[in-house]
Amino acid sequence: MPKSVLVLHGPNLNLLGVREPHIYGAKSLADLDVELKAAGGVLGLSVRTFQSNHEGALIDALHDARQWSSGVLINPGGYGHTSVALRDAIKAVSLPCVEVHLSNVYARESFRHVSLIAPVCVGSVVGFGWRSYLLGLQALADAIANASPT
Ligand code: DQA
Repeated sequence: MPKSVLVLHGPNLNLLGVREPHIYGAKSLADLDVELKAAGGVLGLSVRTFQSNHEGALIDALHDARQWSSGVLINPGGYGHTSVALRDAIKAVSLPCVEVHLSNVYARESFRHVSLIAPVCVGSVVGFGWRSYLLGLQALADAIANASPT
């Protein structure tokens, strides 16, 4: 049985492909989700995706993931820089979590240099466009494999 993982996309990522494509790329969120599901298949993971512009909905999705998911890949969008509640939710669910950002947040405005969620994640992948997600998914698969008894 493949393990299931949750991919969470935060605010404004529904506009992927349209929003500042010189920063975030031309691929749409729907196309990215297709790539992630295919990549999950290769890694032996069943990938469920969810996007919301609402902090509480992202937190609810994390709580729900406790019931069925072995790990979480999250692009928190702007909430990664601001949300104590999102950080608390990641900590609370005790699932391995990998943070991703499309852009290199450390090469941008200083307010993007802070991640409130990084300390409660296994690690972070930033700056590789949509491939940040693929690299993050590989890292998550590895973290799940290493956390499980063989
Ligand atoms: C982002 C980076 C954030 O700073 C920004 O608020 C986003 C997208 C990224 O993927 O590069 O919405 O998370």
